[in-house]
Amino acid sequence: MGEFSENQYTDFRSVAVDGLLFFTPKQRVPVGTAILNPAEGVTEETITPAFRPITIRGKTFQNRVWVAPMCMYSCQDGMFSNFHVAHYGQWAMRGSALITIEVAAMALRGRNNPQDAGLLSDNRIAPLKQVVDLIYSQSQKATIQLQHAGRKCGFGSYAEDVQGSTAEPWNKDYATPGEMTEEDIWETIDAYGEAARRAVVAGINVIAIHDAHGYLVHSFASPAINTLRYIPILSAEGVDLFDISSGGTDRRQKVQLGQQYQVPFAKAVKDLGLPNVFGDGVTVHDILSNNKADVVQVAREFLRDPNIVQKVALSTGTNVTWVDQYHRAPMNGKYVESTTSIMTGAKASDFVMQSHENQAPNKIIS
Ligand SMILES: Cc1cc2nc3c(=O)[nH]c(=O)nc-3n(C[C@H](O)[C@H](O)[C@H](O)COP(=O)(O)O)c2cc1C
Repeated sequence: MGEFSENQYTDFRSVAVDGLLFFTPKQRVPVGTAILNPAEGVTEETITPAFRPITIRGKTFQNRVWVAPMCMYSCQDGMFSNFHVAHYGQWAMRGSALITIEVAAMALRGRNNPQDAGLLSDNRIAPLKQVVDLIYSQSQKATIQLQHAGRKCGFGSYAEDVQGSTAEPWNKDYATPGEMTEEDIWETIDAYGEAARRAVVAGINVIAIHDAHGYLVHSFASPAINTLRYIPILSAEGVDLFDISSGGTDRRQKVQLGQQYQVPFAKAVKDLGLPNVFGDGVTVHDILSNNKADVVQVAREFLRDPNIVQKVALSTGTNVTWVDQYHRAPMNGKYVESTTSIMTGAKASDFVMQSHENQAPNKIIS
């Protein structure tokens, strides 16, 4: 290729993330941050709701399009691997402000599947930390969902020593659970605490408890599960956020799938007037701008397309930050560089730097 001067290709240089054992380039402003332009009336007050920052217990999230929990059933002995670093890393790089790492069992008998993630012992901390480190290196935040599947702990020959809130099996294919004693319940609470401690040691910011779909905690709520009465109790106990989901509680339920099918439940909970209640769904702008929820967690659409945050920005005409290293291919197509004009890389760099300067007031992680 021959020699070229330092800035012939581009004057953009990656900066190392501090505090990691390996070099990882830092995003100078978290990807998915709205670029404010007060001179043209684009302020935190006028920006489309998906990109209005939200602060919870002192942590600020630069947008409200988050990755919902999705089990991958791909761990060996409960351990996260490079697969998970790449899998969660794709969304961190592309700008989701909070990424939910899939359910991790807090007890062996709490697994849904033998290949579930687990936080059953301290040797599971280091593999989780690798996933978390990558998410943080991209200036995004991570949560992990802790779970005990109760009487839905697997089925067929796999399930052993299953416990639940009742001795009745989920259906004929599932094992018959032992009805938990008060001692079993206290043991389980302690195991949740230990798993949460391990998650925090790995660097997790937010702990989520899987309390839906008929799993252990949910199965204690009530056979009819009156969520609208249950949620204020949890809120009073200090739970900050609720990801509203439905189905899986009772085998007689018939969930009607379709656009925004979970949103009416989120809206009913939000109408209780509790702070920071959110739901999930794909029509992000409609949900947020019509005040049906405070934050949207998206699941399957993120599997199809890791760029959902950028797509929401494009569809709402919002300028948001993009990956520093991808500055030659901005999602809004404003900067196009042909191979013959590669020496104009400095222009791209100016554009990126100017974007960052413009958003100094809403900078979250420097
Ligand atoms: C592959 C997959 C795995 C899932 N695993 C979990 C899970 O571990 N915990 C959970 O609470 N929800 C889980 N869900 C439900 C999603 O978080 C979400 O509530 C549901 O898919 C509806 O959102 P969507 O329409 O955006 O996909 C899972 C969904 C999918 C598609």
